Amino acid sequence: MRRGGGLITAMDLAQYQARERAPIRGSYRGYEIVSMPPPSSGGVALVEMLNILEGYDLAGAGHNSVTYVHTVAEAMRRAFVDRARYLGDPDFVEAPIERLTSKSYAAELRRTIRPDRATVSVPTQVTQGLESSETTHYSVVDASGMAVSVTYTLEFGYGLGAVVPGAGFLLNNEMGDFNGLSGVTDTTGLIGTPANLARPGKRMLSSMTPTIIAKDGKLVAVVGSPGGRTIINTVLQVILNQLDFNMGIEEAVTAPRFHHQWLPDVLSVEQDGLPLSTVAALEAMGYRVRVGGRQGTAHSIRIDSRTGARQGAADPRDADAGAAGY
Ligand code: DON
Repeated sequence: MRRGGGLITAMDLAQYQARERAPIRGSYRGYEIVSMPPPSSGGVALVEMLNILEGYDLAGAGHNSVTYVHTVAEAMRRAFVDRARYLGDPDFVEAPIERLTSKSYAAELRRTIRPDRATVSVPTQVTQGLESSETTHYSVVDASGMAVSVTYTLEFGYGLGAVVPGAGFLLNNEMGDFNGLSGVTDTTGLIGTPANLARPGKRMLSSMTPTIIAKDGKLVAVVGSPGGRTIINTVLQVILNQLDFNMGIEEAVTAPRFHHQWLPDVLSVEQDGLPLSTVAALEAMGYRVRVGGRQGTAHSIRIDSRTGARQGAADPRDADAGAAGY
């Protein structure tokens, strides 16, 4: 080791102990599965995949048929996300193994598998830090029913990149929300109207839309989102989804969204947000449609009108989002 410039010492070798650990146990179509626990990811991933696949008629799909390969690959994809997310040496990290190897979790994952479409694997599926680098929205309802909807913006990540010496906080670059150039309104989306030109003592025009919905004086929902100008349209759709389409809060937050902001004269639709036939019909009507990306992260709360229970929905577009009750 020393000769090769390695890090391991004789003491490290002397201290290494074999550890006996309880195996991972699961079941598959009535068979018992017993396999290796962490620090191998094998047993957990295997049982997770088998649990997912138990819900499909694989034999009926045909061995190595398109449906079979798709279904198995989607199970693999999901088990490997969890592998990246949770698994490591159990002497150092605590993984939710009970949950990962449970039938109920597999049922949840099955609901995320589309029969006709490959899911897209993206690194942001694994949490990369606790805080978004941009605008943040959160919704809160307390035990007595008081509600707070908070959107705060630092415009872009790390603001303008300057820390006040000795004070320890960053300056934002919210000045970017003023209209850029007087008189310059163009098709790229630059607005030059007087109402939002920078002036001494003036506050810039934000699009933040923290919103509380109530009926007959009673709280119905708390809604909001980051996303610059898309914020307004995101909040609009989360409200329409609930009030016009009777969606529950999770569905309302998750449903695909679209955005139009006058200029640029483009209808932006989230990736896989609308059927191709709808996009084609809109284009035939004269819309310039751009499909791609994700719009906002609308962490919201809905009050169950019968029980008063608070239902929290963390937007799945945000890898580090969460809903919690205390
Ligand atoms: O207040 C506004 O409208 C903008 N400063 C928001 C920027 C924003 O949401 C960027 N993060 N996603």
